[in-house]
Amino acid sequence: MMRSVITGSGSALPRTVLTNAELAERVDTSDKWIVERTGIHQRYIAQDDETTSSLAIDAARKALDAAGVDASEVDLIVLATATPDQTFPATATTVQHALGCNGGIAFDVAAVCSGFLYALATADSMLRTGMARRALVIGAETFSRILDWEDRTTCVLFGDGAGALVLEVQDVAGDGPGILSTRLHADGAHTDLLYVDGGPSTTQTVGHLRMKGREVFRHAVVNLAEVLGEVLDDAGFTACDIDWVVPHQANARILDATARKLGLPAEKVIITVDRHANTSAASVPLAFDTGVRDGRIKKGDLVMFEAMGGGFTWGASLVRL
Ligand code: ACO
Repeated sequence: MMRSVITGSGSALPRTVLTNAELAERVDTSDKWIVERTGIHQRYIAQDDETTSSLAIDAARKALDAAGVDASEVDLIVLATATPDQTFPATATTVQHALGCNGGIAFDVAAVCSGFLYALATADSMLRTGMARRALVIGAETFSRILDWEDRTTCVLFGDGAGALVLEVQDVAGDGPGILSTRLHADGAHTDLLYVDGGPSTTQTVGHLRMKGREVFRHAVVNLAEVLGEVLDDAGFTACDIDWVVPHQANARILDATARKLGLPAEKVIITVDRHANTSAASVPLAFDTGVRDGRIKKGDLVMFEAMGGGFTWGASLVRL
């Protein structure tokens, strides 16, 4: 059976850490409020010489290295971002050129915090239908560039970073590795709850992120629990079979609530929101790579990726490593 198999991962963070205490010197907030409401202690912020593409390139190189794959063997790059270097060309093409694998397919996907799930599903479909053989699936963001640094309700929540996976199509046995099932959803009725108030077609500015956090929180817990159930049913597994949940890192309380709804012990959830904050499309592959590199996530494990973000968009994917 032809499946898309994860053969390597990598991640990258900007050089500079911004702690809650440092943020409290800029806006009316406190380390106590941020930690209690979100679980975030610090985030990484890109400097002027660090961009979405530079972080993506760094993460992609590490993923290729981990997979033992030469960049010339990559014929598909799908990059999820809501903070591209430029309106166009796609940041994926900048990454492709820097890696030296020109000529294959390269494009960006925009689904905000669910972007990585959308990119993974797109690459998986293209690999299994024979359009490409070896893909880089990247989530990369510089959300610090679209934050209103005077709005304490949003600026404390986000950070910058990138994560990448190498995905290769392989003929595997039924119980072998690969992406087992994926579900994606979108509901455009709630754009007013989470959006950027600018864009080329409306204001001709980049704009700033705006969010009604409490309402987003409510939708996130319900939508994520539903989609996780769908993906498990599709693949014929139950929550008890999962070795690791690698969730979008928006808020430690959402992660706890979702794990509780699934009946999963907290120890099976990879959490990086404390160090990275919410890095939007980068957060799932960044958390995955963190779990792989510290030795928790291993070959043969059953891993659940899940995310929910602006749009709303949400999705989940069950993968055997
Ligand atoms: N420091 C101190 N006080 C603050 C801060 C801050 N940084 N921010 C807000 N407050 C205050 C508010 O003004 C409010 O005060 P009031 O009661 O006097 O009006 C109080 O704290 C409570 O505010 P709430 O917004 O109700 O706080 P809540 O407990 O809901 O936590 C949070 C806010 C952390 C944003 C939470 O709602 C959340 O995480 N929501 C989900 C976000 C999310 O999942 N996003 C996912 C996708 S992101 C993407 O797609 C880009």
